[in-house]
Amino acid sequence: LGRPLFWAAERASTNVTALEWAAQGLPHGSVVTAAVQTGGKGRRERAWVSPQGGMWFSVLVRQPCALHHAPDLTLLASLAVWRALAESGVSAEIKWPNDILVAGQKVCGILAQMRADGEWVDHAVIGIGINANFPAEQLPEEIRHRATTILSACGFALERPRVLAAILTELDRLYRGLATGEGFASVRREWLAHCQTIGRDVEVAIGNEIVRGKAVDVDDQGSLLVELADGNVRQLHSGEVLFSGS
Ligand code: BTN
Repeated sequence: LGRPLFWAAERASTNVTALEWAAQGLPHGSVVTAAVQTGGKGRRERAWVSPQGGMWFSVLVRQPCALHHAPDLTLLASLAVWRALAESGVSAEIKWPNDILVAGQKVCGILAQMRADGEWVDHAVIGIGINANFPAEQLPEEIRHRATTILSACGFALERPRVLAAILTELDRLYRGLATGEGFASVRREWLAHCQTIGRDVEVAIGNEIVRGKAVDVDDQGSLLVELADGNVRQLHSGEVLFSGS
């Protein structure tokens, strides 16, 4: 992964560019990156503020995988980022399904956009944004209580080319298993060991619905298992953990 790599000083969104170019035949493993994004996209249709100093990039994956393995793409990406950050001395945690936190605050988000053909994912663009080398004061006021940057949280800057190379190496390793049907299940234990969500009281937003309960586990498919007040357990394939208490 990472060959070819397209760098630009500025793009609206590396995911948008990668999806457009994918439709024109961009090869598997290509990476589209930008020093600054002017229209960065987050999950749930939100904007993603992407100033100078961050790491904003998208990886095009053309290894076909079964549609039911689609959630694996983001879960495995979060593990790749976790491993690469650990190598650089950053001690992070994963918040289900794919946020990376340092000291309880978000430093990295992942937005995977797929194009499926029947029961198969034809290609996917995995967009990864890391708030790396800029002060947390540059993040929007409204998210400052739950987001930070590596520079502010750890007190040092990331060697960005090295971290990018490490993420791509790990991602390559993890994605190879997908074609053979060996996806998240094979790394579930490692992933869980870094996950901060389990054992907590959570509120999970799924579209407009809010599910409240205790996060008890993540299954082989990567779904979050939430124990409801009535004792039933609900399996959540996707969603966003809005609040996790103690
Ligand atoms: C989230 O909401 O947590 C996901 C954020 C994903 C941001 C990255 S930055 C690189 C890529 N390009 C985008 O426009 N978004 C993703």
